[in-house]
Order: sequence, then C-alpha cells, then structure tokens
Amino acid sequence: MRQRLKVAVLFGGRSVEHEISVISALQMISAMDTLRYDPIPVYIDLSGKWFTGKPLLQRSFYRNFDAAAAGLENVTLLPQPGLGGLSRTSAPNSILPVDVFFPLFHGRFGEDGCIQGLFELAEVPYVGCGVLASAVAMSKQRCKTLLAGVGLPVLPGCLVEKPDVLRDLDAQLARVAASPWLEQFPLFVKPNNSGSSVGIGKAANREELAATLANVFVYDVEALVEPCLSDMFEVNVSVLAGRAKRVSVVEIPVATAGALTYEDKYLRSGGKKSGESQGMASLTRVIDPADLDPGIKNTITDYARRAFDALGCRGVARFDFMVSKADGRIYLNELNSPPGSMAFYLWEKSAPRLLYTELVDCLIEDALDRAGWRASVKWEMEFRALKQ
Ligand SMILES: Nc1ncnc2c1ncn2[C@@H]1O[C@H](COP(=O)(O)OP(=O)(O)O)[C@@H](O)[C@H]1O
Ligand SMILES: [Mg+2]
Repeated sequence: MRQRLKVAVLFGGRSVEHEISVISALQMISAMDTLRYDPIPVYIDLSGKWFTGKPLLQRSFYRNFDAAAAGLENVTLLPQPGLGGLSRTSAPNSILPVDVFFPLFHGRFGEDGCIQGLFELAEVPYVGCGVLASAVAMSKQRCKTLLAGVGLPVLPGCLVEKPDVLRDLDAQLARVAASPWLEQFPLFVKPNNSGSSVGIGKAANREELAATLANVFVYDVEALVEPCLSDMFEVNVSVLAGRAKRVSVVEIPVATAGALTYEDKYLRSGGKKSGESQGMASLTRVIDPADLDPGIKNTITDYARRAFDALGCRGVARFDFMVSKADGRIYLNELNSPPGSMAFYLWEKSAPRLLYTELVDCLIEDALDRAGWRASVKWEMEFRALKQ
C-alpha cells in the first residue's frame, strides 16, 4: 500500500468559536479518506497548549477535558524550516512526522493569519488561505474597504475603538452620527474581528448604541457600526480554489427572528428539535432555493468569485451576502475562511456534486501544490554585501 500522507488537523484555539472549531474538525476528520491520509488530531486548548493523541477524536472527550488522564502528548510547531513535523515538548529533538497541516479554526489566532504565519516560518505545506487573505478577511471593515476598491458593493461602516470610547464616549457617539449613512437609527453593531454572531446587536437610539458598543467590547477592541438592514434576506455561497476554481450552489440561511444568532447557526440541528450540534451544518437553510431570482444568484456567484480573487484566497471560503428587500440591492457582508463545517453541505448539493471526502482531497492537493511553487522561488542570495 502507498504510504499514507500524515495530515495534522489543528483545531480548538483561543477563540470564542473554540467549540465550533472542534465540531468542524471532527466532522472533517471523519470525512477523510483513511486509505490516503493518516489524520493526526492536534487540539489547542483554551489556554493555548497544544495536544495530540487518539482520545481527541472522540467528541465526548471534550466535555471533561483531562489531558493527563488521557495520556495526551504535548507538541508544538517550531518556526524553523526542515524539522519534518511537530516537536514533542517533553522530549527534545523528538519529531512527530507531518506531511501537511490542516488548520480548522474559526476566529482569533486560527482564521486571522496568526497560525498561517507560523506555517510560513516553518515552511510547511498548509491548507487554506495564507497570511494576508486570512488577516484581511478577519477584519470586517478593512476587508470591505478592499472589496469596495475593486468595485464590489458593501455596506458603509464606521470603526469604533474601545480605548477611544473609554476616554470619551460622547465624542465617539457624535463621530458615528456624523458618518455618512449612519446619521439615522437603527444601527447594527458587531465586533470587527470576530464571528459566529457573538456580540452582535441592534441599536434603536443613542443609549442602545452605547450599550451595544459596551457589549462588543467584551469580545473585541474594535466595534463596527453599520446601517441596519431591517428588511433583508441573506444568501451565502462557497468558493473553492484548487487546480480549478469552483463556486458552489447558494443557500439562504433561515433566522428565527431578525439577525442570525449563534443559536440559529449551531444549536438548531437543521430544524430538528434534538440532536447534538453539527456546527454550521446545524443551521436551518434552503440550499439552491428554487424561488430565488436567477439574476441575484448569478450576481452573487460572480461577486464571490471576484472577491476570492481580489483577496488572494486559497482553499475553501464562504461569502455571505445581504439582499435588501426594499430596493433589491446586494451587499457583500463578510467571508469566512475556513467556513463552519467547511461548507461541505453546499458542495454536496452542487453540480457536479463534490462529496466531503473529495473536497478534502482538493484542499490537501492544493496545499501540496502551493508548497511546491513556494519552494521553486529563490529567497536567498550568496553573501555579497557583507563580504565587501
Ligand atoms: N448591517 C446589518 N444589518 C442587519 N443585519 C445584519 C447586519 N450585519 C449583520 N447582520 C446580521 O447579523 C449576522 C451576523 O453578522 P456578521 O456580519 O455575519 O458577523 P459574524 O461574523 O458574527 O457572522 C448576519 O448573518 C446578519 O443576520
Ligand atoms: Mg456571518
């Protein structure tokens, strides 16, 4: 039998989306073709420690996480090329071999370019977006500014910094009120660098704006204030770049009331009353809605493809749009890289159909291709300036 590729799947992490990352990662691992890949689970706990070991593959294990009792091993990735894998922290110079790194984090430190920076320094092949695309995608307002620059429609917004509010709340409220499109309530307020709808809120007046800002500052040091699109629906679509670029079918996520909440996304079990959360796959949704105007579908598909290219994304990403019912305007709201559940539920319904196992194949193949191109680039010169 051919040697199986050792794939380190990294998940968890120091983020409010920690649990969702665990769910996404276990789902992905169970979809991997075990004839081709040898998955190595690497869990980063809430304090930032890295562990590996078979018990990490059991979902129930996380309810009472006890690394010592389960005999987990402490590992880390050193920012040094050529080591060939993860370093065992208990045994100096002992390496756990890894061929490809597959980060499956959501949010801070894992989706924002930080871990990608470590992969770059270590010169290891890794799945998904690089440092720049990850970092830009994580900062909602800065991402919108970049996308507006290539002609894509986004909502105007105003960033409010926590230290500025702590210094002078009134001045910040006045600054928001003086911003174009934000003169009138209601306004929508969210963390600029977070996800999973944690900390989002709607403000109907000045007092509520102050309260929603205070709530955002529990989770982030930057708040994003936007006009509130009250009468709208959302449409999401996924883009995958491997040897060929593909766009999935679109979906309409269904909110219980108003904005999509954390509960809508992860705790509804796809409309079923019970059952454990399947992460983003649990959201109630209409995939490839028959009654959605084909013009809207095509425009959204085109925008997503253009945004993917403008940001230099890799791997798989999901682009989320809001469509105003009043005037039919489409706004690109944000992108997620990687998306919850890797958006496998969209790819399984796309034409041609891409099963989750095949999606994983494309992602790993892409990571290896990319590592090959990088290795073909000259990055050093012989000593000349110092020799003079
Ligand atoms: N400007 C807005 N007006 C109305 N609803 C919004 C607005 N921005 C976001 N929402 C709602 O809040 C949800 C979460 O916001 P989003 O920007 O997608 O952040 P997250 O990264 O937490 O998913 C969206 O899915 C949508 O339902
Ligand atoms: Mg969202």
